[in-house]
Amino acid sequence: MKNILITGGAGFIGSHVVRLFVNKYTDYHIVNLDKLTYAGNLENLKDVENKSNYEFVKGDIVDGDFVEKLFDKYRFDGVIHLAAESHVDRSITNPMEFIFTNIVGTVNLLNAAKVLWSENPEGKRFYHISTDEVYGSLGENGIFTEETAYAPHSPYSASKASADHLVRAYHDTYGLPVVISNCSNNYGSYQFPEKLIPLFINNIKNNKPLPVYGKGINVRDWLFVEDHAAAIDIIFHKGKTGETYNIGGNNEWKNIDLIKKMCEIMDRKLGRKAGTSEKLITYVKDRAGHDLRYAIDSSKLQSELGWKPSLNFEEGLEKTIDWYLQNEKWLENVTSGDYKKYYEEQYGRQK
Ligand code: NAD
Ligand code: DAU
Repeated sequence: MKNILITGGAGFIGSHVVRLFVNKYTDYHIVNLDKLTYAGNLENLKDVENKSNYEFVKGDIVDGDFVEKLFDKYRFDGVIHLAAESHVDRSITNPMEFIFTNIVGTVNLLNAAKVLWSENPEGKRFYHISTDEVYGSLGENGIFTEETAYAPHSPYSASKASADHLVRAYHDTYGLPVVISNCSNNYGSYQFPEKLIPLFINNIKNNKPLPVYGKGINVRDWLFVEDHAAAIDIIFHKGKTGETYNIGGNNEWKNIDLIKKMCEIMDRKLGRKAGTSEKLITYVKDRAGHDLRYAIDSSKLQSELGWKPSLNFEEGLEKTIDWYLQNEKWLENVTSGDYKKYYEEQYGRQK
């Protein structure tokens, strides 16, 4: 039986990866290490929590001693590293959490893997999950490839870029068997409602203003989260050591067009008159350092490893909206307590 560590498995993407691995690889013992920050939620994993090949460990990757002991205890064969502070706006107001978790936390995991696998790295794998935001911002044309130079703009993307460089450095310097992927914007079930799509679904449902940053002209390339999890599975098992793979949906949307599409679908689903929800759109102060456009070229992953997105966006968006409308309790639970304070601080001052 292989021991696989998944970090950040109680978060949005991590919970989909844990679910996929626990159900598909019954001969793996999956250890989910998560600090359970505001973004981590064990409710995301209710359906797998009692499976015999799954174990949850609460802990902080910033604590190097703890990480070292964990590797010593479980003697992992593979690591899939998703734990991170992930929200750009929070990185603008509080960058230090991002430096600690995304950089120091990643190095703690690299050090522990390096020690454990020093004798025999054969068949071992350290998979670091990263973002397309490390490449910076595109103008109206162009696309990010694996060769695009790094040019991060936010503390979040700079911390992820720093972690990517360190992962590559551990490969080049110590021969650590690493692989990296950089993915575009994900959407789907269990995403914390601070990110655009679940935030706006929740606000439309509750007739609250939809705070569009700047003019709403920024472009993002959206990918259904289960397609990202499928790509992670393929890269973990078939990706070449030392390589980087871009993952994206080939699905660019200008924010304002996406928001209007969501309003249209929700008017229909909530039985509202067409045009009702669009009235909630409120233009607010732009995000500082707001990247204009992301677009990912995932042809390397498609041609070398045979991955492709399974859902078209209209289907994925409908499915996602249905999930949030049907999982009111989940939304209620995650938007109580600290969320209210965050919302007031982020949007109260944004008129
Ligand atoms: P998320 O914020 O939903 O989840 C992050 C998880 O990490 C949470 O469960 C949290 O409790 C845990 N965590 C945070 N700090 C920790 C610490 N110090 N120790 C242990 N656990 C800790 O994030 P997500 O959107 O699921 O993103 C997961 C990964 O994928 C991140 O590395 C992110 O950079 C990357 N990524 C995200 C997207 C996206 O669109 N969401 C796109 C590309 C890449
Ligand atoms: O590209 C991958 C990245 O996508 C991931 O690495 C990040 O973890 C993830 O958070 C996401 O980053 P973005 O900044 O692109 O996502 P967010 O949902 O915060 O914003 C999407 C777009 O919507 C962006 O142009 C900002 C805009 N926006 C966002 C919010 C929260 C608004 O206009 N209003 C809002 O209230």
